[in-house]
Amino acid sequence: MSGKRTFTMIKPDATAANNIGAITKMIEEAGFVIKASKMTRLTPERAGEFYAVHKERPFYKDLCEYMSSGPIVAMVLEKDNAVADFRTLIGATNPADAAEGTIRKLYAKSIEANAVHGSDADETAAEEAKFFFSALELY
Ligand code: RTP
Ligand code: MG
Repeated sequence: MSGKRTFTMIKPDATAANNIGAITKMIEEAGFVIKASKMTRLTPERAGEFYAVHKERPFYKDLCEYMSSGPIVAMVLEKDNAVADFRTLIGATNPADAAEGTIRKLYAKSIEANAVHGSDADETAAEEAKFFFSALELY
């Protein structure tokens, strides 16, 4: 059965563009409940750990630099079918390919600076939530 939680980050390009509020409003209006939220900043090393699955990819070094270039907002979101529905809400990785009305279509700057992260499976959502939040915060 599909899980009820996913994990997201509002990425540095979107915090720099003052779009935290607009993106959060879209998330809430799509029916997601914010269970945990934290504005913080990653070091390049910690960004590398978060995106370790991509360490052999050509864009990995740039991704770590970009993800540590400014603050991010980490959030745990709850909704039925959370992972898949959130991926639909954010749209394709490359904003040029993202559907109309998606967060990335509206707010992403490029395939790298693409406004938001969304977990790709229930297991990664749980791991990514633990990367940022304590057990007590994940009530
Ligand atoms: P995310 O993990 O951040 O939600 O994004 P995603 O699943 O849509 O895409 P993924 O393949 O997991 O890539 C992770 C992030 O790496 C950057 N990227 N840059 N320059 C490039 O070709 C490239 N490709 C990916 C993006 O920030 C992407 O979201
Ligand atoms: Mg991904």
